[in-house]
Amino acid sequence: MSPGPRVETTIAGVRAWRAQHTNVGLVPTMGALHGGHVRLLRQARHESDVVAVSVFVNPTQFGPNEDFSRYPRPLEADLRILSQERADLVFLPSVEEIYQPGSDTVVLPGRLARRLEGRTRPGHFRGVATVVAKLFGIVCPDRAYFGEKDGQQLRVVKALVRDLCLPVTVVPVPTAREPDGLALSSRNIYLSSEERRAATVLWRALQAAERLWERGERRAEALRSAMRSLIETEPLASVDYVSVADPETLRELRRAEGDAFVSLAVRIGTVRLIDNLLLNSDEHPVTGEQ
Ligand code: PAJ
Repeated sequence: MSPGPRVETTIAGVRAWRAQHTNVGLVPTMGALHGGHVRLLRQARHESDVVAVSVFVNPTQFGPNEDFSRYPRPLEADLRILSQERADLVFLPSVEEIYQPGSDTVVLPGRLARRLEGRTRPGHFRGVATVVAKLFGIVCPDRAYFGEKDGQQLRVVKALVRDLCLPVTVVPVPTAREPDGLALSSRNIYLSSEERRAATVLWRALQAAERLWERGERRAEALRSAMRSLIETEPLASVDYVSVADPETLRELRRAEGDAFVSLAVRIGTVRLIDNLLLNSDEHPVTGEQ
């Protein structure tokens, strides 16, 4: 049995550990770890001498009517997974350690953060960017790993690093899915078995858009409406948004001629789920005008 990762709850403790190491990978999480997180951990393990993982349910990225207080916190199970995946350090701070009394500075991401998730969740990416900047400042990782599952978050974090000249490389990791296509998420445990079946509608809608596009459909509105129609066939689902956007700016496209970031947010009962995929024009050159 390996002794398991070192656990630190203070910034000073993490800094002391960090000073002893080089080639550090960081995996920021809110815990309730699943196969998606494990994918990040394995990639970090593969590329780094030491792997630090933060487990912190960040209050500032939750809206007033969101699930901060009931967000799952299965600490023992998380530590078991982190031990199995040979994480070296787990940073488990309290809210007061991260947001010290008098703390008065935030990171305000720009236009990217106001689209898609930003419309339904105002302030969400300010909370994410602020905590990620703090984690980078605390751990000083060489690389930090983020899932493509949260495609807008990944882009906001890349912009944060670019715009504030932070000395860290952001590494994107592909989305881990259940065999029926549902993206793994800590929020999937809120789904009843009936809702769990209905939740496959997100992936089915994304695939429907992809199939149309592969057959040459380039009108973005046709792709969006195909996704909406498919979701409407599922009585437990209601659309928050469907989007076909420029992968760099996240602006809605009129025509999907180049690459396109296709994303959606759907409520299944009371559970809000998101997913996305990237249409890659290099792999599918246009054959005929539609
Ligand atoms: P959390 O939802 O715990 O996710 C932590 C990381 O795991 C994120 O980078 C997320 O994109 C990735 N992830 C989640 N599900 C995934 C899946 N099915 N496949 C691949 N990667 C997946 O995202 C957050 O926490 C927070 O916003 C955080 C960045 C930690 C800041 O508080």
